[in-house]
Amino acid sequence: MKHSKELITNLKNIFEERFSGSPLFIFSPGRINLIGEHTDYNEGFVMPASIDKGIYIAFAKNAVNKLRAYSFDFKEYVEVSIDQLKPVNRDWANYVLGVVSEIQKIKSFSGGLDIVFGGTIPIGSGLSSSAALECGVGFAVNHLFDLGLSRIEIAKSGQLAEHNFVGVRCGIMDQFASIMGRSDQVIKLDCRSMDYSYFPSKFEDYQILLFNSKVKHSLAESSYNKRREECESVVKILQQKNTGIQSLRDVSLALLNSEKNMFSDLLYKRSSYVIEENDRVLKAGEMLKNKQYKEFGQLLFESHQGLSEKYEVSCPELDFLVANIKDNPSVIGARMMGGGFGGCTINLVERSKKESLIQEVSQTYKERFGITLEYYEVEIGEGTHIIN
Ligand code: GLA
Repeated sequence: MKHSKELITNLKNIFEERFSGSPLFIFSPGRINLIGEHTDYNEGFVMPASIDKGIYIAFAKNAVNKLRAYSFDFKEYVEVSIDQLKPVNRDWANYVLGVVSEIQKIKSFSGGLDIVFGGTIPIGSGLSSSAALECGVGFAVNHLFDLGLSRIEIAKSGQLAEHNFVGVRCGIMDQFASIMGRSDQVIKLDCRSMDYSYFPSKFEDYQILLFNSKVKHSLAESSYNKRREECESVVKILQQKNTGIQSLRDVSLALLNSEKNMFSDLLYKRSSYVIEENDRVLKAGEMLKNKQYKEFGQLLFESHQGLSEKYEVSCPELDFLVANIKDNPSVIGARMMGGGFGGCTINLVERSKKESLIQEVSQTYKERFGITLEYYEVEIGEGTHIIN
């Protein structure tokens, strides 16, 4: 993977102007998700991968016991006492402060931290720049203060930062993918047991292509937490009669159907989507193993339909991007990706037809919404790591 030398140089210069000493550097990647959306917080399965776009962080200890952070992209600075971390009114700062605060709950250390960071992930594109930042900062703290945390512990601290500092009750997928990713591999993660395995991410004649709808999603303001609550309320209702159910992971479609009269149509739609999506991830794993790429792609279309019609986390722009290419023979699968309400679609497309497809989709998207489409051919790169 090629790192952005220009950004690293910028961060280095700013770091040296603002702080003293020469910093270390970390790259922490964003993620894509092939399939398994809104399943992580239901203790289900996901299939993400870390990408070559991410957050670069210049970092070093300081002797003033402060957490001092500068965001290159926002041109904003935050400085707080490291012993008194609490949420502030800027999301980017809350990712930073939040993860340090969560680490303080499990390991004690003394000393301050300076960071300057910037990213190559378009903000709001649904590629998890926030998880990348959290994992990068967590990794930096662990490294500098020699805390001995595992990568999974750092991922969990990032997830808790979202819960406690940002107010998004997210699952573990994004942070896990960012810090546990491997080059040219997708991860299959069981979000209940945290068992995981890797699959090769080369799809022979096909490749992954992302289309950015440019509709900015904001999970905190969106209905993300609402969806999670809806799933939890189905579980509560089912628990009245069925002991042993802890999450939607424990509910089969047959059970859900037999108890259908216990909840509203809306809750039925939500929970049946999650159960079906979990099933799709398991099938998807088998199909990837057998190199059945077309069948795999079909699952992506089904996933989108569920996300749009049953889970209702899509938007007209994402629906258009998927519907528009559904019958195109050079596309074998497409769906919205991530939390929803905007961001990117993920597409599995025939390598040799990519150029004409991009042109076609850009034109129709522009005609329909007046928006200039962006596309990304992401590479699957290494998870969070120090750059020498
Ligand atoms: C966001 C969350 C993840 C996951 C996805 C939907 O990216 O951070 O935990 O729930 O949405 O799959």
